[in-house]
Amino acid sequence: MEVVIAPADELARLAADTIEAKLREKADAVLGLATGSSPLKVYDELARRHTETGLSFAKARAFMLDEYVGIAADHPERYRNVIETEIASRVDFAEGAVRGPDGLADDLVAACADYEAAIAAAGGVDVQLLGIGTDGHIAFNEPGSSLASRTRIKTLTQQTREDNARFFEDDLSQVPQHCLTQGLATIMSAKHLVLLATGKGKAEAVHQLVEGPISAMWPGTVMQMHPHATVLVDDAAASRLQLADYYRQTYASKPAWQGL
Ligand code: F6R
Repeated sequence: MEVVIAPADELARLAADTIEAKLREKADAVLGLATGSSPLKVYDELARRHTETGLSFAKARAFMLDEYVGIAADHPERYRNVIETEIASRVDFAEGAVRGPDGLADDLVAACADYEAAIAAAGGVDVQLLGIGTDGHIAFNEPGSSLASRTRIKTLTQQTREDNARFFEDDLSQVPQHCLTQGLATIMSAKHLVLLATGKGKAEAVHQLVEGPISAMWPGTVMQMHPHATVLVDDAAASRLQLADYYRQTYASKPAWQGL
């Protein structure tokens, strides 16, 4: 696991560099998209590169991590709509190339199985963007999630619902209770994991993710088992890392050709 500590704008550029490098090497790359505030600067940077430098997503496909259940199709906070606004509509993905779990399906169990099959049929995710919740969730794999889990329905914790109330007029009662989420094993099947975290509120979750024992209580810790995981954090999110100086020194002396 590589940890890079840098200001938020630089982290976004690094994540965008990784996605750009993948798209230039493999035009039909499969991207994994996260929602929430953590990837927004990355999406801004990718949209800028698309407009200004012609970076193309025309042959790429993308899979979202998760989706709320019980939210109207046209709700602006439905994750499918958020992804459309924040990235899909700003670049040149082909029609139908961006998919998410169908939180509106009548048969949610079948929708989860279909989603797993679609990711597999696409050949798996090449680069997966991730954020982390203050309770250590990645995607919506809340504490207690099986480390072997696949896409399924989950109940959001009170902590996550409170954290996300800011997207729902600070009204907890509007925040859905359930979601469909890629499982931890689904995420672990992606070839490169790139997690972004900024702000002091993420410091404990980042410390556990990188340096804690692997445990379902801090679901992101499963990433310690991934052969290619990159953790991009600002100073505040890195403030509880025991080996912060070592991570800084390692990154500072890294050869430029190596990339993330
Ligand atoms: C969203 C997702 C979540 C968020 C996490 C952090 O698709 O998978 O795991 O990444 O809740 O959210 P932000 O980035 O809003 O702090």
